[in-house]
Amino acid sequence: MKIVVGCDHGALELKEHVKKILAEYKDIEVEDIGTYTPDSVDYPDIAEKLCAQITSGKAERGIAMCGTGIGISIACNKIKGIRAALCYDVYSAKKSRQHNNANVLNMGGRNMGLGPAEEIVRAWLEEPFEGGRHQRRIDKIAALEGK
Ligand code: RB5
Repeated sequence: MKIVVGCDHGALELKEHVKKILAEYKDIEVEDIGTYTPDSVDYPDIAEKLCAQITSGKAERGIAMCGTGIGISIACNKIKGIRAALCYDVYSAKKSRQHNNANVLNMGGRNMGLGPAEEIVRAWLEEPFEGGRHQRRIDKIAALEGK
């Protein structure tokens, strides 16, 4: 599975930590679309670049981060085909996979310690989508994209 990672200037350290975690998974290929320096950038630009990798089929999933995770989550969810989940705990991370088949995980670099973030990333990576009634609901989300 290919996973694309990206962040604004508010989550540089977190992105580096996430990349270290992902490197432990032999079946995961990682692409880092930036940002790469502490210079200020606009998180919607990062969201657009990261999500394009997923909607084009070049990557299966993404981890997108900003200072709080909020702005980049809002931006990612504007893009057709993206189901981005802002997770501050392991329970939400697991549910976002089981029930929402989230293809993007959002976290905040300024409100999340590296330890809790690591637990969230591992849970999100390893938890499968349950399908069934949840697929019906996801289909209804997709239908909302055209409204
Ligand atoms: C950037 O200063 C900050 O607004 C951004 O990282 C994020 O927290 C927005 O939601």
